[in-house]
Amino acid sequence: MYRLFFTLVLRRFDAESVHHATVRALAVLSALPFAKRLLHRWLAPHDPALRVSAFGVHFPGPFGLAAGFDKDAACAEAISALGFGHVEVGTITAHAQPGNPRPRLFRRVGQAAIVNRMGFNNHGAAAAERRLRRTRGLPVVVGVNIGKTKVVPESDAAADYVASARRLAPLADYLVVNVSSPNTPGLRNLQAVELLRPLLSAVKEVAHGTPRRTPLLVKIAPDLADEDVDAVADLALELGLDGIIATNTTIRHDGEQGGLSGRPLKARSLAVLRRLRARVGDRLTLVSVGGVEDVDDVWERLLAGATLVQGYTGWIYNGPFWPSRINRQLSRRLRRHGMKSITEAIARSA
Ligand SMILES: Cc1cc2nc3c(=O)[nH]c(=O)nc-3n(C[C@H](O)[C@H](O)[C@H](O)COP(=O)(O)O)c2cc1C
Repeated sequence: MYRLFFTLVLRRFDAESVHHATVRALAVLSALPFAKRLLHRWLAPHDPALRVSAFGVHFPGPFGLAAGFDKDAACAEAISALGFGHVEVGTITAHAQPGNPRPRLFRRVGQAAIVNRMGFNNHGAAAAERRLRRTRGLPVVVGVNIGKTKVVPESDAAADYVASARRLAPLADYLVVNVSSPNTPGLRNLQAVELLRPLLSAVKEVAHGTPRRTPLLVKIAPDLADEDVDAVADLALELGLDGIIATNTTIRHDGEQGGLSGRPLKARSLAVLRRLRARVGDRLTLVSVGGVEDVDDVWERLLAGATLVQGYTGWIYNGPFWPSRINRQLSRRLRRHGMKSITEAIARSA
């Protein structure tokens, strides 16, 4: 049904316009308590077997929405009511910025993929702080993903991330340092350990210094060489980070400039997850993202060592009921394998 609607209607409109209309509709929904409660009752994960805990945070299910959809923390409640076990908002930068000129979001329907070069368009950390104050205390798990303001030079990057962290870490269930988006010039250079160490140390001081000790994760690119993946993993262990999110979009593709997400990213994202798990054992939480399309992919990531799994592009191609369908199928799969909980499936990977 959704596929038909996508082909006949949505595809005829510019991808970014559809995105903004969807966010606006979800923001309206977030402000309607009755509708939200109804959706939540119908679609959110309620099976206790799906619950997972990671870095001291309790998630109603392992499957969440990746960063980049709710860039300004405008509609996390509605997204969560649709069935995502957590919502990663952002990327948010210390200063508001418009992002790259449009068009900057392109569908690749044949590959179930998207290319984007949005460039961290967002209203800035102060606006996000005001919005997040509203969701605090609600039963929605919200991760906050922060990035570097475009006009800030690399030499001042740490101070820029710290400015965002000061505002947002106290309001986040977990905080993510994003150094892996391809659309801010030079950002991915920050993944080099010599630059990443001072940056992560400074943000960690802020995140772990909040009254609740906000967990801190770093999000990496799929295009890192294997040795660099290992180096970031070692650094995360050395600094006492809580986890790694792998992966962001890839620049290894032909055609439009920007980061590619969706099906073509699946194999590399899974390979990076496996490499990380082999490197860090059970000392870090791993969040797997990239090319997840269905319950088989989620299951495979859990067995490969992820505690949490995220999707974004799959939602665009599979429609609003995608997360709730995956949750339902995950519950069934657990029973079929005679497992009592997701935690048991995750333990199998160890
Ligand atoms: C339109 C779009 C915008 C994105 N924006 C961000 C972002 O602001 N920050 C970020 O960390 N990742 C961003 N991502 C990357 C996703 O969070 C995710 O890592 C990537 O798309 C791979 O997952 P997928 O194949 O399920 O889409 C974006 C992805 C898309 C498609």
